[in-house]
Amino acid sequence: MPVTNAPTTISLQCIRCQNSYPADEVRYLCDCGGLLDVWHDLEALRPQVSRGLFDGRLSGAPGPRVAPTVNSGVWRYREIILPATVGNIVSRPEGNTPLYEHPRLSKWVGSACLFLKHEGENPTGSFKDRGMTVGVTQAKLMDARAVACASTGNTSASLAAYAALAGIPALIFIPAGKIAAGKLAQALAYGAHTFQIQGDFDDAMQLVRQVSNEMGIYLLNSLNPFRLEGQKSIVFEILQGFHWQPPDWIVLPAGNLGNTAAFGKALYEAQQLGLVDRIPRIAAVQAKGASPFYQSYQNNFAQRTTVKAQTVATAIRIGNPVSYERAIRTLGWTNGLVTAVSDEEIMDAKAMIDGVGIGCEPASAASVAGIRQLIANGVIKPEETVIGILTGNLLKDPTATVDYHTGAWPDAQFANRPVQVAAEIEAVREMLAQRL
Ligand code: F0G
Repeated sequence: MPVTNAPTTISLQCIRCQNSYPADEVRYLCDCGGLLDVWHDLEALRPQVSRGLFDGRLSGAPGPRVAPTVNSGVWRYREIILPATVGNIVSRPEGNTPLYEHPRLSKWVGSACLFLKHEGENPTGSFKDRGMTVGVTQAKLMDARAVACASTGNTSASLAAYAALAGIPALIFIPAGKIAAGKLAQALAYGAHTFQIQGDFDDAMQLVRQVSNEMGIYLLNSLNPFRLEGQKSIVFEILQGFHWQPPDWIVLPAGNLGNTAAFGKALYEAQQLGLVDRIPRIAAVQAKGASPFYQSYQNNFAQRTTVKAQTVATAIRIGNPVSYERAIRTLGWTNGLVTAVSDEEIMDAKAMIDGVGIGCEPASAASVAGIRQLIANGVIKPEETVIGILTGNLLKDPTATVDYHTGAWPDAQFANRPVQVAAEIEAVREMLAQRL
């Protein structure tokens, strides 16, 4: 495979044995079986990057033909993500997502200082765009003949869009009948070859890993370390948004553990580079029915647990997470922790987030359910600054939302039932008189 304009200041490094490989080699694992990191020479970077450098790039005005290095919340940090040249970058652009605050939600959660970073407001409606802009740019640099992923839906929606932008064929492997309607619609609409596997996400993941290796297809699951480099920008944006004064906690939903891994690496690097002088603690939140990482955490990682996953939050319905070892490293770097919440807690938290006008898909609400639980248990103090990550958009999974409000959850705390009304003015008047 010819390599065009491959970046030279980075390499791939095994997180287990530190063995290193060239960045333009297509490989996802070390010879020893360990996961790989994109390694940056932090010593060499330290004099080149600063708060001022990144702050100076914040003024990107909208307009025609604005370069992604100006208007993307990923490429703003390119020196510590992927030093690609502008002409090669595949961008929508992504990032620059809002930090919401809402008194009714904060009160329900029990926090005096809660912010929600809404990654569902990325171009395809999830945080995956931040990883995919980097992954597909790298695929282009490597002249990949096709790109592929297994997915619970959001990765495939994002891959389909970015591959379409770049003009590279996309192959996606999804568990049949187990991804939300909005996500399947996106994959089909963006023209991806869509394979509905008669199994779960973990089966799809195993199959795509095998065929990618056999057929020279570039794999863009979060196994691919370039994806995680892009996802680090969520943390860089949070730190920059707080003027480089870090919050106390960042709490996120955890499935395949890509984000958990990326967040730890971002915080470690930000501190090493002198961008911040302390770092927040990370709390990773799993759904109880899909909580292999939580179960391993509970036994101090003495053994790796895998499960047959089941949860309403289909995005995190994963029983054998790929970035397991990288995520353990995040806990060490950030004095982090792991917890788990029930589907009922997830759906009630989602209804609260939706009900204040923000809105998210079920998996995202695990972060808020987790914050509420950790505050109730005294782990997070009410006065500490907490950032919850909302990972996906409300419109991704309309079925879960409508089910909640129309009686599928007997104990639903905030169901907003639609009312049937005859098409007659008297009936409408009577109904309104009762409501107002
Ligand atoms: N939230 C949403 C909305 C997701 O789509 C995912 C992962 C996660 C949280 C969990 O993030 O895997 O980094 O721990 N979705 C993947 C997919 C697996 O295929 O779209 P993670």
